[in-house]
This record gives sequence, structure tokens and C-alpha cells, in this order.
Amino acid sequence: MGHPSATRALVRKVSRSLAACELRHLPRQIIDLQRAARQHEDYVRALAAAGVNVTVLPEEPALADSVFVEDPLLVLDEIAILGRSGAASREREGELIAPVIGHFRSLVRIEAPGTLEGGDVLRIGKTLFTGLSSRTNREGIEQLRRLTAPLGYEVTAVEVRGCLHLKTGATSPGSGLLLANPAWIDLSTFRHLEILAVPTDEPWGANTLSVNDRVLVAASAPKTAGLLRARGLNVHCVDISELQKAEAGLTCLSVLFAGPVVGQSGGLADHLNEVVYS
Ligand code: GLY
Repeated sequence: MGHPSATRALVRKVSRSLAACELRHLPRQIIDLQRAARQHEDYVRALAAAGVNVTVLPEEPALADSVFVEDPLLVLDEIAILGRSGAASREREGELIAPVIGHFRSLVRIEAPGTLEGGDVLRIGKTLFTGLSSRTNREGIEQLRRLTAPLGYEVTAVEVRGCLHLKTGATSPGSGLLLANPAWIDLSTFRHLEILAVPTDEPWGANTLSVNDRVLVAASAPKTAGLLRARGLNVHCVDISELQKAEAGLTCLSVLFAGPVVGQSGGLADHLNEVVYS
């Protein structure tokens, strides 16, 4: 979801079956798998350069969308919430990542008939703006509210139309600032923030990833990057063009979090392929 003081990131290697990914708002295009894997490695390096210790989980050959590791769960400073995907093909991803995040956070779950994907949750301070989308339903949002209210969070539903997740169309790259595509997101709930619209020829540009002192922007959105630089933000462009063909954004490729280990400490290595240190 982006994190102003992230110390850790989880990512998962690109699946060899990426070409069979879920697509909702894009036509299917040929994906160069090797290029996608190289771009993913560059993305990992960009996280490491931002001061994050990146844990790389192994490829899941049969799970086409498993590289989009943010979607099965939501990690807060206090707990992690295992979501339920709104796409049948992605249901198994949660069970695979649960034991990994269990090393860092206590886990609670969204239960059926609720659905909730991490890509739909934009945290700004103690508010969890949550997209009502094809992947996250009202019941999932209500359960999120009940699970997080005791921790002091407020949950605000936001209507998403025309894009996959809330963060496909809106992120907060700077304090008090919302970068958004107004065609896709109901912005009425964000009136207290300054809203910066992406250029109409860069509809996907609103998906930025804030990591510590910098803002990652997709290389396909150079005008958006320029707008953010002009505001003094420390912008770094990352090319994820092959992954974008699978309806990816910068945010959904990692789970960022901070803080001490509060789960069991042993056995994490069983889940790892490699660890890249910053
Ligand atoms: N291909 C990304 C998703 O639909 O979850």
C-alpha cells in the first residue's frame, strides 16, 4: 500500500503462467516472460535502494497472478488481515502467503461471503480507504471495519469503476495529496485532500508506490512523474510495462511493512527463494 517507514518487503517471482492471468479492463496481449522477470528484478532493486529488506518468495508455476503479492492480504502495523479474493483463480494465493506473514504479524481473516483484496486498501494515516470493486464487496469492507475499529482505524468505502482496484486509480504520493484518475474513482470521499489528476493520456499513472524517502512511478507515466517532481517529490521511475499487460501496478507487486517480528521466528527460510538486502 506504500509505506513511509518500510523496513521489509515481500515479493514473489513472476509465474511462468503469467500469460493466463486474470484480465478485466485490458485486452489480452502477448507477454514477454523473460522481460517481465527482468523488470521484476529491477523493481526489487528499486525497493532495496529505498532501504527495504526484500524477501523474494519462490515462483508459483500454476498461479498466474501470484506475482501480485499485495492482493491476498493487508498488513497493518498491528496485525495482518488475510483477504478473500474476488477471483476464483486467485483464492489459493492467500493460504500460501499466510504462513510467511505469520512470522511478522498476528493474522485475522476475512470470511465468506466477504471478499477483500489488498489492492483495494489505501491507508492514509488511520483511515483505510477501501475500494468497492469487482474484487472487494460490501461484506468484506464491513468485516474490515469490525476487525480494525478496535485498533483505531476508520474504514471508508470508495466506489471504483473502470479499473481493477482502488489503488489502480488513486494513491497518495505525498502528505495531504491524492493522485488520481477521476474517471475511475469516486473522489467525493477524498475532499479533505488536495487532488491531483493524472494527465488523461496517462490513465494508469496514479498507481505510485511511496517507499521511505521516494516515490516510485511507472516509466509509462513520464508526465505524471514530472508533475510529482515539480512538487519536490523524490521520484524514481520503474519500467513494469510487461507486468502492466497483466493489469499490474507498482503497489500490487509487493507487501511493504515495518516493525518488529511478533510471530514465530523459526522456519521463515522454508518459504524463501532468496533474500536481497538493501
Ligand atoms: N491480473 C491481475 C488481477 O486480475 O488480479
